[in-house]
Amino acid sequence: MALKEALTKLAKRSSMIKTKDAGGTNAAATSGTDTNGTNGTATNGAEAKKEVEEPINNEKTENSPRFVIIGAGARGYAYADTIHKLTNGVVSAVAEPLKFSRENVGKKFIWQDEEPREGQSFPGWREYLDYEIARRKRVADGEENVPPGADGAFVCVQDAMHEAVIVGLAPLNLHIMCEKPLSTTLQSCLKMYEALKPTMATNVFSIGHVLRYTQHNMLLRKLIVEDKIIGNISSVVHTEPVGWWHFAHSFVRGNWRNDQTSGPTLLTKSCHDIDFLLWMMCSPEKAGEGEPHLPSTVSSQGGLHFFKKSRKPAAAGDATNCMKCPLGDSGCKYSAKYLYVGPHRYSLEGGNLSMPVNIVVHDIEDYRTMEEKKAVMIKTLEADWDESTPKDEVAARQWYGRCVFEADNNVNDEQFVTITFPETNRPAKQITFHMVAQTKKICERFTHYYGDEGEIYADGYKITVENFATGEKTEYDPKHVAGGHGGGDQGLTGQFVAACDAVKNKGWAAEKAQNEYIGCTLDEALRSHAMVFAAEEARKEQKILSWPQWWKENVGEEAK
Ligand SMILES: NC(=O)c1ccc[n+]([C@@H]2O[C@H](COP(=O)([O-])OP(=O)(O)OC[C@H]3O[C@@H](n4cnc5c(N)ncnc54)[C@H](O)[C@@H]3O)[C@@H](O)[C@H]2O)c1
Repeated sequence: MALKEALTKLAKRSSMIKTKDAGGTNAAATSGTDTNGTNGTATNGAEAKKEVEEPINNEKTENSPRFVIIGAGARGYAYADTIHKLTNGVVSAVAEPLKFSRENVGKKFIWQDEEPREGQSFPGWREYLDYEIARRKRVADGEENVPPGADGAFVCVQDAMHEAVIVGLAPLNLHIMCEKPLSTTLQSCLKMYEALKPTMATNVFSIGHVLRYTQHNMLLRKLIVEDKIIGNISSVVHTEPVGWWHFAHSFVRGNWRNDQTSGPTLLTKSCHDIDFLLWMMCSPEKAGEGEPHLPSTVSSQGGLHFFKKSRKPAAAGDATNCMKCPLGDSGCKYSAKYLYVGPHRYSLEGGNLSMPVNIVVHDIEDYRTMEEKKAVMIKTLEADWDESTPKDEVAARQWYGRCVFEADNNVNDEQFVTITFPETNRPAKQITFHMVAQTKKICERFTHYYGDEGEIYADGYKITVENFATGEKTEYDPKHVAGGHGGGDQGLTGQFVAACDAVKNKGWAAEKAQNEYIGCTLDEALRSHAMVFAAEEARKEQKILSWPQWWKENVGEEAK
């Protein structure tokens, strides 16, 4: 379904409750006509929940769009699963060096109980590239019975590899879904942009900004940007609560802990939020049409405040690994023993076998008994390093048993970004963004929007609209889809596969499929990444940057 069509259905489907606070009676008007111009029907929650689910077209045919998964770790698996279960796309190949991860995707979604056939399994993206070049030559030479190739690639390797893979695969002219962030430096993002731009004539591109595709956020954008339900926006205050244990897992012990091996938190975590805020406040109403409302300035403050040696509890002494720490069993909520073995609610003993447990031990499900699972987990957590361990050895892997106050992390656990917009093609406004590590909420963003006709509070579940003049309060309760990122994984995958299908089977021009299904241009993806790098520069140099000047000096005229 094209985005516009999806949004209209969404507004109709979400439940909506109106109340009026003028007389202080809070009387519920749960039926009647929607007066806010949202195409919505004012219904109560019970009525809306009766709505019949949209049938899923996951029928596979010989014309189905075919996809290669490049990097079958956590994200590669999640996309393969979604393509297989919820779309008419086919997972046709996997490129992944780790046998367990490659077979995990292959056996579930590609070759099932058989052995992989030609063109289905590769130990890495370069081997896939070599094979595909040779396969196309065989086709061009008229060889018969050459297996079909893929139409698109899901690039799900780690951040620092994105550039090599995207630039390497660009000559193949595939549709590309690249995981966020595009890359770890602006220069690298620009190289990717240059490699991808020529492919956009015939292909679509998507970036893993899943926040754009949750039902909640699609409805929110419709209300604010299309329906202008609270008039012109004057300011937005947005918070990204990463979550106390989640931050420790991913950004102190895990993959994204050090800006030398991945990138700053604003890039590796909050690029989602910066992109989302620019989509709401800067992008044209419809992708590919009209002009963006470009910012005037950007500034930022923040740092690594908590997860460092100076904050280590004295009672932990010299311990660098939780399994040997006197506070290991009690007294430290960040204890790896507590978080991964138990009894934390996301731990093994808490009954959890997915994130974060299977990030520490990928094949945890393959150990039969709880005793075996615990033994392998404990052994993994006991791994540690000391001052004599070479720095690149420390940096090359994750140390999930490491004390969170003694790790090789350096990324911010607190950050604010302020973006201002001048009065140009839209009225002036400003945004503040706050990323905070120590929160009870785990990634459940919340935002206040202030307009000249009313205000909105949105928390990922409900959207509450208050109109100043009428005193009317309207609560929207968009369908909360279970699964990755509040349904964003499904939304993004579904729209990307539909775009590829439209180009392959319905004769759509790539540009039309890009704008209507993906709703985000390559230029927009570049802009939101550039904003992250500008904000980081502003933070480090403690200055307020002029966006037009920064763009001219760092990006140039070619990109918009
Ligand atoms: N959209 C989101 O919300 C979201 C969430 C988490 C992670 N991410 C991003 O997704 C990407 C992957 O993250 P992840 O958590 O799945 O990481 P991961 O480490 O679980 O997966 C990466 C995989 O790439 C494989 N790989 C390494 N070299 C390869 C090669 N030469 N060819 C093919 N595969 C190779 C690794 O073996 C690994 O299995 C990262 O860029 C990350 O930042 C996005």
